[in-house]
Amino acid sequence: MSHLLLTSGPTRQYLDPVRYLTNASSGRMGKALAEAALDLSHEVTIVSGPVEVTYPLRAKVIPVVTTDEMLAACREVFPHCDGLIGAAAPCDYRPVVVEPGKIQKTGQPLTLQLVETPDIVATLGAEKQARWVVGFALETDDARFRAIVKAEKKCCDLIVVNGPEAMHSTHNQVEILDRQGNVVAGFRGTKEGVARGILRVIQERLIGVKA
Ligand code: C5P
Repeated sequence: MSHLLLTSGPTRQYLDPVRYLTNASSGRMGKALAEAALDLSHEVTIVSGPVEVTYPLRAKVIPVVTTDEMLAACREVFPHCDGLIGAAAPCDYRPVVVEPGKIQKTGQPLTLQLVETPDIVATLGAEKQARWVVGFALETDDARFRAIVKAEKKCCDLIVVNGPEAMHSTHNQVEILDRQGNVVAGFRGTKEGVARGILRVIQERLIGVKA
């Protein structure tokens, strides 16, 4: 049995108490991956942004809001885990200034200054030591090439490539690439079925026990 850390869902970066930037993510893929991992008898800790899906009761869920909170929670848990699946869509930008009160409309354009948030998979990938890391890449063009570049940059052992049609959908179509860019598997169908396929590959290639 392994202990898997799973990031899931979007994060939010507030501009003021009522408005925020976010990424489109339902958490459905994360939920399906958690179920597939639990069915293989693994222990699962999910660090999740705000989602409407209900995660399996057998998983430990740590709710977070911002990307920095997601990173901090993951850094606490990751040293006690065997591997990470980064299925979240963390918001990549945050406003430099978060207004304490609601921003009032003036009739004039509003300019926001944004800075990048930390990349969770890349940060944990750099600190992974003997642990394994599986990232996701949602690409519209040049998917394989861009995914391999991301896998390299974020120290991923495997990267799961999917298209934008995956967002908020019940279905998904993915390819799994290794660090050399070889396509090691491809799955399409319900997110539950695709998640079982992904976990099978992780089990065979990274956990080392055939499912
Ligand atoms: O660069 P991109 O967002 O396409 O990379 C996707 C992968 O990186 C996913 O595994 C996602 O969970 C992860 N990621 C992250 N932290 C970010 C942005 C993306 O962990 N700030």
